[in-house]
Amino acid sequence: MADEPLILGIETSCDETGVGVVRGHTLLADALASSVDQHARFGGVVPEVASRAHLEAIVPTMRRALTEAGVTLADIDAIAVTAGPGLAGALLVGVAAAKGYAVAAEKPVYGVNHLAAHVAVDTLEHGPLPEPAIALLVSGGHSSLLLVDDLARGVTPLGATIDDAAGEAFDKVARLLGLPFPGGPYIDREARAGDPAAIAFPRGLTAAKDLVTHRHDFSFSGLKTAVARWVEARQRAGEPVPVPDVAASFQEAVCDVLVNKALDACRGQGVETLVIGGGVAANSRLRAMAEQRAARHGIRVRVPRPGLCTDNGAMVAALGSHLVASGVAPSRLDLPADSAMPLTTVSV
Ligand code: KG4
Ligand code: ZN
Repeated sequence: MADEPLILGIETSCDETGVGVVRGHTLLADALASSVDQHARFGGVVPEVASRAHLEAIVPTMRRALTEAGVTLADIDAIAVTAGPGLAGALLVGVAAAKGYAVAAEKPVYGVNHLAAHVAVDTLEHGPLPEPAIALLVSGGHSSLLLVDDLARGVTPLGATIDDAAGEAFDKVARLLGLPFPGGPYIDREARAGDPAAIAFPRGLTAAKDLVTHRHDFSFSGLKTAVARWVEARQRAGEPVPVPDVAASFQEAVCDVLVNKALDACRGQGVETLVIGGGVAANSRLRAMAEQRAARHGIRVRVPRPGLCTDNGAMVAALGSHLVASGVAPSRLDLPADSAMPLTTVSV
């Protein structure tokens, strides 16, 4: 245990400044500073506000993580940092910090993909990921199905959303129901008191003809519009909007599609492990439904605890740790931040 590499991870791709420390698959520290409250009144993340907040939070968050882990920068074997995808200015803060610490302490640095880190974080809770696995990646900016045959060197995208990401749909529907930003956790909470069968909302790209061309793809924009039309009709009629029922029915539609498509990908690829990552993986209904339906097909579902699903530094450290253990070479010190880093690039 003690001879496993000690890895520090830095995450600044969106509105969370995260610094995590792991040894092998063991989580030692996960320090987080969020600027979410500063964005709430705008109904979405404001890039300039996020960048400034990262600048202010990065050094204190770094200090907290090292203290929490009971280590010093000199003890660290490698520094991993999210190099993309994400907000350009926000990413730059983390990448510049990682380079500064790496030069100062003479440590190797790994520029990593935020989305691959959302998959790798599960190893902190459930140990090494059996490969091949299918990953369902559902965050505020992405919704994808991936075949993971080598998380250290590359993943194969099977499908993705053709319009809104799952988290984006949660956030937009929450907004039209008058719930705060980010909406996912609020919909999750409201839905607990609602009836998921109250309203039959559409399941995007699940009709027989769509399955031919878009078997592994998602679409949530039609669902979002259907919810908006339904709510508007109630308001026009002067009737109250049953928020818990709308939330539960919407959530049911999203989860139904995500779970069925993920399990279909597992069966299609002959894969027995499904790992779910990204902020939406914190959703209680998604977790329960995936477990339930996967069990019927003999498929094992791995989902990290909710606190590790949303953005954090531990996930970046987890991926860094996996890269080091797999013998992947570190990045060059002039590694760039790439706001549009493709899903297939695990590290740069
Ligand atoms: O992965 P993440 O923290 O940031 C990105 O990389 O985008 O994901 C944030 C997204 C937001 O859209 C948020 O509403 C959603 O994850 N989310 C949830 C829940 N918790 C966070 N969606 C549904 N249910 C939740 N419990
Ligand atoms: Zn994320």
